[in-house]
Order: sequence, then structure tokens, then C-alpha cells
Amino acid sequence: MTKIKGNCVLITGGASGIGRIMGRMALERGARQLVIWDINQESINSTCAEFESKGNVKGYRVDVSDSKAVTECFQQTSKECGDVDIVINCAGIVTSNKTFDKQNMRDIERTMSINAVAPMNIALLALQGMIARDKGHICNIASAAGMISNPKMAPYVASKWAVIGWSDSLRIELKQAKSKVRVSTIAPYFINTGMFDGVNSRFFPILKPEPTSRKILDAIEKNKNFKGIPFGFHFIRLCQGLLPTALFDIVFGKWVGIFSAMDNFTGRK
Ligand SMILES: NC(=O)c1ccc[n+]([C@@H]2O[C@H](COP(=O)([O-])OP(=O)(O)OC[C@H]3O[C@@H](n4cnc5c(N)ncnc54)[C@H](O)[C@@H]3O)[C@@H](O)[C@H]2O)c1
Repeated sequence: MTKIKGNCVLITGGASGIGRIMGRMALERGARQLVIWDINQESINSTCAEFESKGNVKGYRVDVSDSKAVTECFQQTSKECGDVDIVINCAGIVTSNKTFDKQNMRDIERTMSINAVAPMNIALLALQGMIARDKGHICNIASAAGMISNPKMAPYVASKWAVIGWSDSLRIELKQAKSKVRVSTIAPYFINTGMFDGVNSRFFPILKPEPTSRKILDAIEKNKNFKGIPFGFHFIRLCQGLLPTALFDIVFGKWVGIFSAMDNFTGRK
């Protein structure tokens, strides 16, 4: 079991949304040190100021898509905060609800590098010490969009499919090596944090940030390999395997309404 109590927890994107809530909860669960990595200095400052009374918290401004900056920041974090025991790769962006032909290369590259490449680079750095100590946990926040194709968010979907494939491959590698370092892949449905403001959800209720954050920390502490939130999303792959694509598109796309979810998306400004 990977307990949060007594450990150093690094959360990317930890100054907003579920990253921020998980940071607070990690301190409440007795984390030795909370490390927040984020690109938004103002949010880092306000988060650190708010959490100070709950335990040790340190914030670093870093663009996780900049691999050189990530390497330097990881070295500085280790020097100032000690061994990183738990990494939660949570920083993520969605840039628009444009169809793919209207996207631009900059947004495609940003989405892939922040959502998919950065978690790999950060895990690569953290794993060196974790494997040597035979202790640690990497938790990757993917998305239900990493299991179901969805119009008007194709680059985001691509980035989250990438995270799921990589993260689960890493889990298997560590298991084959009989390592005690664990990996959890999390695939939540839409969460009411502001990131996906305006989305339509006809069938599944939009998730609340607090209980979703709690479920993710529980998944880490219980060493869950994979967690879809809500649980029903675990059956998506089964349905994809059983139903012909045209029928799957009708059931999930039209009836459940997933394929029109992004129609009125406004997102963060
Ligand atoms: N909100 C949802 O509906 C939803 C659903 C499924 C999965 N997710 C995933 O959960 C994670 C958190 O989402 P959220 O809703 O809390 O989002 P959020 O927008 O509230 O928080 C994301 C944080 O990431 C930071 N960030 C963005 N780019 C960065 C960069 N280049 N370097 C460092 N930090 C950067 C932002 O400053 C922000 O603090 C994301 O990976 C997201 O894809 C969200």
C-alpha cells in the first residue's frame, strides 16, 4: 500500500482544480511534504498561502512542456524537499472545441506536450530514485476521453489515449521487474472545475471536484492499477469490443450524447 502519510507528494497542475484539492487532501492525510508544480505563479502563491497552516508546502513555477526546465526543477525539488515518493501528473489543457480541420499546429503540439509527453518526462526523472529505493507511486490523470473518441476535442483525446497506453505499459514493466513502485492510471469523466465549462452531459452527471479528488487519492493508497470515474466507464472498452462501430456511435454518441458534449464548450478563458 502506498500511504500518503509521511511521504513527499509532487502534484503537477497543483495550483488549480482537482490538483489543488488533492494537494490539500494530501496534507490532511499527513503528507510529509506537498510540492506543487504549476505554470501559474499567482495561483501557486495563493495555494501555498492557504495550505501553509496544514503542513509543509512548496510551490515551483515550471512549464511542464519544457523538458529542460522540468529536469532542473526536479533537481531543485529533490534538493529542497528530499525524495519525491508520490507523483501525481495532473497538469493538463484543452485548447478549444474546434473540429480537427480548424485546429492549429501550435495547439496540437502544446496539448500533446503538456498532457502526454510531460507526464512521461516527469515519471522518467522520478522513477530513477523510486526504483533505487524500491518505493514510490506514479499516478497519471488521463481522462474518460482517453477511452472514447470524441469530436471537437481530437488533440485532447489523442493526448489522453497516449497517457493511458503509456501509463499502463509502465505499470506492467514495473510489475514484471517485481518492483514495489506502483502506477495508477485515472480516467475521470467531465469534472466541474472550469476546465470544461459549457459541456453538455445528457446521461452521466458531471463529476464534483471534491469527491473525485478523494477517489483518486484513495486509488493511490489502495494501489489501484486503473480507475475509471464513474465506475460505468470501465465498460466502455467492453462495449467497443462487442458493438459494431456504427452501433457504438449511435448508442454512446447519439443516445448517451457523448458526441455532442463539446458543442457549447467555453472552457477556461
Ligand atoms: N475537468 C475535467 O472535466 C477533467 C476530466 C477528465 C480529466 N481531467 C484532467 O484532470 C487534470 C486536471 O484538470 P482540472 O479540471 O483540475 O484542470 P485545471 O485547469 O483546473 O488545472 C490544470 C492546472 O494545470 C496547470 N497547467 C497548465 N499547463 C501547464 C504547464 N504547461 N505547466 C505546468 N502547469 C500547467 C494550470 O495552470 C492549472 O493550474 C487534467 O489533466 C485534465 O485533463 C479533467
